[in-house]
Amino acid sequence: MKGVTVVSHPLVQHKLTIMRKKETSTASFRRLLREISLLLGYEVTRELELTTTTIETPLQTMEAPTLEGKKLVFASVLRAGNGLLEGLLDLVPAARVAHVGLYRDHDTLEAVEYFFKAPSDLGDRLVIVVDPMLATANSAIAAIDKLKERGATNMRFLCLLAAPEGLERFTAAHPDVPVFTASIDEKLNEKGYIVPGLGDAGDRMYGTK
Ligand code: URA
Repeated sequence: MKGVTVVSHPLVQHKLTIMRKKETSTASFRRLLREISLLLGYEVTRELELTTTTIETPLQTMEAPTLEGKKLVFASVLRAGNGLLEGLLDLVPAARVAHVGLYRDHDTLEAVEYFFKAPSDLGDRLVIVVDPMLATANSAIAAIDKLKERGATNMRFLCLLAAPEGLERFTAAHPDVPVFTASIDEKLNEKGYIVPGLGDAGDRMYGTK
């Protein structure tokens, strides 16, 4: 699908398989999500622009590559987005963070906003929106609508699993936002869960139910 990258790296796929297993503990699930976020983060930041800076090694002066000035924002769709956010911040500690609080109305499956906080200069930054599950895409679409309303123009969306139905809706609503995912699963079930999926990502991360 256009604008969609499936990160097929063996380490990602192996860790994802363990996360999917119903017997995987909360502690293991959280650790694996953090590890996978580092690998996905490597992929989603692959095209960041570099410039050079003059440095001195112990032996001589050199022009060395460094990230260009254009700064990053990681936008976490609460609450499960935080599982991806932590690893990404290890990779790019200077990044700014936006939080978009959305919950899924269990009857309508619509996204309802309860919190929004973001840096004011979103238009000057690359905004990487993170949410582990792209299911109906209602939350992802609503989060990106809101970030665009606040000035964001250069965005990417990073998730762990995507449903084909969600991907289709997402790319129709925001064709300018490339998607990175570890897997495109089979389908959504009648309750809006990704199948075969891994269950409720937030519940599995935090041990709630
Ligand atoms: N959100 C989840 O956490 N899991 C799904 O399968 C769908 C949405």
